[in-house]
Amino acid sequence: MKVYAPAKVNLALDVIGKNEQGYHDLDMIMAPVSLYNIVDITRADQTKITCTNGKIPDDNATKKMVQVLKDRYDISNYEISIEEHIPMQAGLAGASANAAAVLKAINDIDGLQLTIDEMILLGKKVGADVPFCVVNKYARVQGIGEKIRKIECDWKFPILLVKPEQGVSTPEAFVTWHALDPLHPNLDILEKALIYQDLPFYVTHMGNALQPAAFQLVPALEALKADMEAFELYVMMTGSGSTMMGFGSKENLMQAQKELSKKYPFVKIVTVG
Ligand code: C5P
Repeated sequence: MKVYAPAKVNLALDVIGKNEQGYHDLDMIMAPVSLYNIVDITRADQTKITCTNGKIPDDNATKKMVQVLKDRYDISNYEISIEEHIPMQAGLAGASANAAAVLKAINDIDGLQLTIDEMILLGKKVGADVPFCVVNKYARVQGIGEKIRKIECDWKFPILLVKPEQGVSTPEAFVTWHALDPLHPNLDILEKALIYQDLPFYVTHMGNALQPAAFQLVPALEALKADMEAFELYVMMTGSGSTMMGFGSKENLMQAQKELSKKYPFVKIVTVG
């Protein structure tokens, strides 16, 4: 069985505070984008996970997801091969997307009959972005990422994703966030702007509280932002980076894609929603 594992973007991100487990409580607007890993999963004698990017580390999210399911349910063994198109350390939840896709696929193949809410709780054990990847629709996401309220929004619009060579480590971004002045975007008005498909309002109010921290960790991001703004795009980082999103007219997005492909390793127009 072949399944698609879509990347996500954060259309807004606020950090509320640190909880007792050392994780951070967040308030986010998230949406899937048309950038996918392809996961091939079939029953096998032994569980085996491979991926086109090479070695699978012990803390790999898909590996952890399979283990969480094995600990709880009498599931089959699977051969899982992942064709990666979503860059890593990018703020696009590539690893979490794989884990969520595998969770849903095993639920189907082994007939576990898990509800979305049950899969959200299982996904949370593996990583903070897995619950959203299970739901995979415009959503307001809180807690560490497990409190999900769908947003009734059917807007599909193009954005430009540009990722520089360097990634940003999520734990380091949170540590750096504590040392900087907080930035708090207004998610309630941003949610409304998305529902009303009001791009001019959205781009002038959007914000990601982790962006200043990521810019401190990877100074090249400042230059990337300026490179994108040169094409009259509004620019914001997704997640804890290092991918920057460009918002603007189709013509400007295409022009920027053409020129910035010469300079950056990952440059792609995708559709949000
Ligand atoms: O859960 P995930 O593997 O995506 O998170 C990676 C790291 O990012 C965590 O170990 C934690 O340090 C930090 N994190 C956090 N608060 C969140 C999500 C992630 O502090 N809500």
